[in-house]
Amino acid sequence: MIRRRDWLAATTAACTLPTASLRAAAPRQRLRAAPATVALAGQTAVAAWAYEGRVHGPTLRYRRGAMLDLELDNALPDATTIHWHGLRVPNAMDGVPNVTQPPVAPGERFRYRFALPDSGTFWYHPHLGTPEQVARGLSGALIVEDEEAPEAEHDWLWLLADWRLDEGGGFAEDFYDYMDVSHAGRLGRHVTVNARSAPHEQRAAPGERVRLRLVNAAPARIFALRFAGAVPWVIALDGAPLAQAQALGDAVLPLGPGMRSDLILDLPREPGARVTVHDVFGRGQRELAVIAADGAAARATAPRPAPRAPAANPLAEPVLRDAQAETLVLGGGMMSMSGWPDDPLPARLARRLRRMGGSREADPVWSVNGRAHLTHDPAHAPEFEVERGRTVRLTFENRTAWWHPMHVHGHSFRELARNGRPLPGRALRDTMLVAPRETVEVAFVADNPGDWLIHCHVLEHHAGGMGTRFRVSG
Ligand code: C2O
Ligand code: CU
Repeated sequence: MIRRRDWLAATTAACTLPTASLRAAAPRQRLRAAPATVALAGQTAVAAWAYEGRVHGPTLRYRRGAMLDLELDNALPDATTIHWHGLRVPNAMDGVPNVTQPPVAPGERFRYRFALPDSGTFWYHPHLGTPEQVARGLSGALIVEDEEAPEAEHDWLWLLADWRLDEGGGFAEDFYDYMDVSHAGRLGRHVTVNARSAPHEQRAAPGERVRLRLVNAAPARIFALRFAGAVPWVIALDGAPLAQAQALGDAVLPLGPGMRSDLILDLPREPGARVTVHDVFGRGQRELAVIAADGAAARATAPRPAPRAPAANPLAEPVLRDAQAETLVLGGGMMSMSGWPDDPLPARLARRLRRMGGSREADPVWSVNGRAHLTHDPAHAPEFEVERGRTVRLTFENRTAWWHPMHVHGHSFRELARNGRPLPGRALRDTMLVAPRETVEVAFVADNPGDWLIHCHVLEHHAGGMGTRFRVSG
């Protein structure tokens, strides 16, 4: 049952579509968000929030150029939205509550309908109450297939995440905990690959080539992956193909929250050999996955030629010559004296009272250019405005003692420099991992009109103020 009001809301939102056809056809897909009991991280019955009863939600697959036409059906006890992370969608489809759409209240529906201009590995998640909703299980992968996929015998998807479960096997209810918000975010002891406890095990025949799509769907955990026993190549970052495949060798592949990487792995040719994947972020050394080469020895004896990267997506190239330069200074957080946003005592007390009454909100401890962006407050004026089509040269200056995966909505950017040193590959990304005290420069063509967020994808950091907006006019 689709109510007329919702139809109209969707129709006005997707203003580029002919109204008649929208009224005529029902959405092609439904995505129901609802409480569900799921198997997760070694527990058999976790009371989660899930898309279509599954954690992670269903993997949505499309061809490039296809229409996504999906109705979110909110059967959660809370309002929600869906953000299509990394997809260049029309502004009204971006899922940011009160900025691009009204929150979808419990019992209501919202129709998302837009074309998919780019191929690659993307994901979707709520953008309202995110630190709680993602940590309770709401996230899923979205894959737009390449027109000419790189040759490989397998196409695997690994969604990485971690969970904070209590003794009873349910989620610890300490969402928006002050320590999490002001430090590294909500980290959980239960690290999973595709919702099963690490190390994840998978097998393929000796000598086979695997395309591996990695998505970091964790609320806050940064992974740094080291592959041993295989020849890994990186072919895409954040869904965007590299100009050519890059051999990773022994180097570590960083994957902050929200980020994706597509790899090609050539398995060893000897039967019984194993490939291991370790997370070595910080002082850690965790075995995340093991791939066993199982079966008869490979016939070929020579290493396979380097893989081709997928064809590039149709993105406009930044023009640095007359770019609009903008700097975002990231401030606040523990172990830092500067950049703490104003938080007068009365406001703090009022918030504490509201929290005791069940409200979910974080204390403002982070800032962008001195201001905290706490909720998707429509009164929060854009940090900068740019004329449609102009290149923005954006500098993230991290004055904090913490890592921040900075995500830009509606656009992909080219990474230019880290601490003044040019980044040779100039890879395209939508989320940039900025280390403590580091300065990173990126550039993008602001060709998607509307108000867009830029925020840290450590979900508790965003809730604690690390976000802002920019406006593309025209
Ligand atoms: Cu993946 Cu604004 O988020
Ligand atoms: Cu952060």
